[in-house]
Amino acid sequence: MAGVTPGKTFNPGLDFSSRSYGSLANKLESDFKRAHEIIQEKLPLGELKALLCVSFGNKPRFYIDARSGTAQLTDSTQDEPDVTLNIKPEYIIQFYEKKLEPRYGLFKDGFFNEASMPSGRIPVAIKFADLLTPHPPMPPKHADQFNRLPQPTEDIDQVKGDIKEFGYGIATNVLTPDQITIIKKAVQEQAAGEREAGIAQMDGGPQGPNQRLWTLVNKGEEFLDLLNHPIIDEFIPWFLGEHAIITTYTANIVRPGNVPMQFHTDQVAVQPPIRDLAFGMNIMFYLEDVTERNGGTRVYPGSHIGQVAPLDIFTVEGTVAAAAPAGSALIFDSRLWHATGPNREASDERPVILLFFMRSFIRQQENNFLSLRKDVWPKLSDRVKRMLGFYTTGALGGVDGEVREGLFVEWKEGVGKMRAPIT
Ligand SMILES: [Fe+2]
Repeated sequence: MAGVTPGKTFNPGLDFSSRSYGSLANKLESDFKRAHEIIQEKLPLGELKALLCVSFGNKPRFYIDARSGTAQLTDSTQDEPDVTLNIKPEYIIQFYEKKLEPRYGLFKDGFFNEASMPSGRIPVAIKFADLLTPHPPMPPKHADQFNRLPQPTEDIDQVKGDIKEFGYGIATNVLTPDQITIIKKAVQEQAAGEREAGIAQMDGGPQGPNQRLWTLVNKGEEFLDLLNHPIIDEFIPWFLGEHAIITTYTANIVRPGNVPMQFHTDQVAVQPPIRDLAFGMNIMFYLEDVTERNGGTRVYPGSHIGQVAPLDIFTVEGTVAAAAPAGSALIFDSRLWHATGPNREASDERPVILLFFMRSFIRQQENNFLSLRKDVWPKLSDRVKRMLGFYTTGALGGVDGEVREGLFVEWKEGVGKMRAPIT
């Protein structure tokens, strides 16, 4: 584990601290050298048409002047760079070796350390990183280039056809008005409670108007009841096989004044990036009419297929809002490029429930085993336990070596134990 300090040694005879296969300083030095070589190899980077400043930690910054067709590396410039990257040299190597997707790699450190965030013209930064990869992606087709786009429908076969063709489909009348009322009330009460308690999770730009409720299994029986919905059985096994598990179960309340989220796919955690297979499927239940104006999820139709990725992940231009009436469900492939849209209404909230499944061999975003409240456990049906991952599949998920297919994992006196399904 490079960079992770070893823990305490319990047995003096097993002290490995004097042993070394090379120091971290050497790794940084060799990464730095290799990253330089890669950039040199990729010159002239003629498509960039920009001036980049690149900083590798405490190394002297350098510039890639690709404003004309013949790019060169320089140590200084009088001009203002189009973009400044403060990036680990190993990421340059990983882009080159196709182990890291540029839209993920460029920003992942910036979420925790502002100084690591690229500054300036972000599409230039993305283009630069794309050009380092073996096969730079194509931009997605714009929504207005399609003759037809998915429309909300009760025809489930049509929804499935739309998911295959466009990466998303919209099923209507999934929830009745009364059911919407019950679930919306649960969302609003929970959201208000978390705000009052000072534990609300806000996002959607500097003002943070949007609110997200995480781990809905803990937050009301209404959310457990929703997991019995047959729309799950209709789509999830069809798309992901029998053993898909919940990676996150959240509510997202989009409020006016939000900044649209950056475009992403929901399988961003799959690194190296594998686009040939969908690893997940998201079911988004609409609790209000969702429109273009109130923050409807923006999508690039058809962007689930092929080596496709938008250059500018901060603009909604070329996308379409997945608008539909309350009670509908937007169901989408985890490879689809999408983002929460801007809510341009004066006052409307746009609450949705997001139920995201991934194949069972993918680590869940929400660590359900630790997040689940102990008092909720007795309420869980075997169906929900399976959905949360308390069930062995494909020789995974067992306790103490018991990994036969189809066993439930339970707690007993503070440790896990196994049991067969009750038939
Ligand atoms: Fe998403």
